[in-house]
Amino acid sequence: MHSTEQQIIHSWNKNAGPWIRAVQEEQIESRKLVTNQAIIATILRYRPPTALDLGCGEGWLARQLATHGIRVMGVDAVPALIENANRLGGGEFAVYAYEQIVNGVLNNQFAAVVCNFSLLGKESVDHLIRQIPALLHDGGHLFIQTLHPLMAGGDAPYQDGWRSGSWAGFSAEFSDPAPWYFRTMGTWIKLFRDSKLTLTELLEPLHPNTGKPVSLLLVGTK
Ligand SMILES: C[S@@+](CC[C@H](N)C(=O)[O-])C[C@H]1O[C@@H](n2cnc3c(N)ncnc32)[C@H](O)[C@@H]1O
Repeated sequence: MHSTEQQIIHSWNKNAGPWIRAVQEEQIESRKLVTNQAIIATILRYRPPTALDLGCGEGWLARQLATHGIRVMGVDAVPALIENANRLGGGEFAVYAYEQIVNGVLNNQFAAVVCNFSLLGKESVDHLIRQIPALLHDGGHLFIQTLHPLMAGGDAPYQDGWRSGSWAGFSAEFSDPAPWYFRTMGTWIKLFRDSKLTLTELLEPLHPNTGKPVSLLLVGTK
């Protein structure tokens, strides 16, 4: 694995405890106000009976989807997060890095695959997205929610590239932020084309107070 990609996993291992608290105590305002509901409502409109949550973290989304009768499998590279997900239930969870998914460690297919703010690297993500059709039934859907490129880009030029990480806005318990790979809107759309998925929806959920987009939510169909 490329060393920058390794830094991402290292950082999530290190910050698993604070992350679990941040999610479960609803410390992240944009999630509470906008993005949690946006991803749940979008997935539910498609009524998938099964879903694979890639980079599921501590498992909140799997637990939510399970309450709507969806059978969820969640995977994440970080054992402490998967341990928490298993303890709270709502699905079947396993410790897998995207590289293992790309190498075909899962041999079942799902009606939906979801990546909620979990696509942070370059090669790991490029390869993972190309593998998605193999994980979906015909007619199945990929749901990606990610930072909105226009809002997340800061002062840097609007072009793909690695950006340094930051835990600004998070509690002081967080440390060692990892770099993340910035993609323009065009690059996100191209990723779908490259993986032969048809982009069926492009949503830009807005912050209720500022009126600015909080995230980019893409839906693709096999
Ligand atoms: C911002 S968190 C989002 C977690 C969860 N999807 C949520 O909505 O709360 C990003 C997650 O992606 C996972 N992740 C990042 N790169 C990964 C990789 N290469 N393989 C597996 N998991 C990865 C991290 O471990 C972390 O749990």
